[in-house]
Amino acid sequence: MVFVRTLSKVARQVLQDPGCGIISNDNFHSVSFSETDQPKVLITGGLGQLGVGLSKLLSHCLQLLVMIEVSLLCTVGPFVYSDILDDKNLRGIVMNNRITWLVHYSALLSAVGEANVSLARAVNITGLHNILDIAAEYGLRLFVPSTIGAFGPTSPRNPTPDLCVQRPRTIYGVSKVHAELMGEYYHHRYGLDFRCLRYPGIISSDSQPGGGTTDYAVQIFHDAVKTGKFECNLKPDTRLPMMYIDDCLRATLEVMEAPAESLTMRTYNINAMSFTPAELVTEVQKHLPDLQVTYDIDLVRQAIADSWPMNFDDSKACKDWGWKHDYDLPELVQTMLTFIGSGSQTARAN
Ligand SMILES: NC(=O)c1ccc[n+]([C@@H]2O[C@H](COP(=O)([O-])OP(=O)(O)OC[C@H]3O[C@@H](n4cnc5c(N)ncnc54)[C@H](O)[C@@H]3O)[C@@H](O)[C@H]2O)c1
Repeated sequence: MVFVRTLSKVARQVLQDPGCGIISNDNFHSVSFSETDQPKVLITGGLGQLGVGLSKLLSHCLQLLVMIEVSLLCTVGPFVYSDILDDKNLRGIVMNNRITWLVHYSALLSAVGEANVSLARAVNITGLHNILDIAAEYGLRLFVPSTIGAFGPTSPRNPTPDLCVQRPRTIYGVSKVHAELMGEYYHHRYGLDFRCLRYPGIISSDSQPGGGTTDYAVQIFHDAVKTGKFECNLKPDTRLPMMYIDDCLRATLEVMEAPAESLTMRTYNINAMSFTPAELVTEVQKHLPDLQVTYDIDLVRQAIADSWPMNFDDSKACKDWGWKHDYDLPELVQTMLTFIGSGSQTARAN
């Protein structure tokens, strides 16, 4: 099936650029939207690990991009302070900026959620209700990410299909199953254009992880480059699905641009690689042989990881909208060390 994709095409050019996101104006204009076609995108959680990456990427492709956050920090693009629980304010932002696409990233992640269940319940569930109502009211295309954490110990773990038992044991997982089901319900009941991907653990170099169980796979690179030592909070044989951020952001744009008739479902698994801490350490040590690794297990995170998928079956995403990842473990490690290494050299120089 051939899809007309504009945003994801620009995004691919940006992501492939070795200059880290600088594309020429020629490239931009050859595939850019007309004023009327251009989606006006609102990203909630715009300062989080994924919000920073998506907003940087979209700022190359779109003229209007608005981000929402609970706290004010400097970033790219128009930026609005708003609590996801303040539905009146959210409505005003959507209306005043004539938003057409909403990417809802605000959430409390797995480990942070277990430490503050009532806040996680409010942000992840009540916040989602606000977003669903506003998206339905203004006819927005809505993207809400789900996660490997939406599965639990009774789900098949290797591989985990799109449709199977989902009985997660964290407030994070419960809120994400709720989001999947509510989004699909609003789609069938009210015609909401809801699209959802279950992301693996996402690994990125230029933004910090936000308190998830897979954070170790980001931290190892920073520690390896800065100190040569890393203490891992998961057991060495804990296998989890992971993905490099470029693949994650491209998948998000591709599913947002996919023609509605190509989507046989509204919630898809996406997959890239699957590894254990021991396997990641071995790959990093190919580049940094002096890296020393110790293990100090965080029992909360370990219990969560032990209940999650080891591998995702993403065959439906591949078939329906042409999903294919670019990064496997060797490319991921090479890329992370290149970016973090050059960043730390710059920091030292400054
Ligand atoms: N990072 C991953 O590995 C991963 C994997 C699967 C799914 N996801 C999903 O992707 C989304 C983004 O994840 P992330 O890693 O960027 O998370 P993050 O924790 O880095 O960012 C979440 C953002 O939400 C904001 N937020 C929290 N409470 C808010 C409120 N009341 N109002 C407005 N904003 C609020 C936070 O300030 C934060 O910047 C989340 O929904 C997460 O569940 C992430």
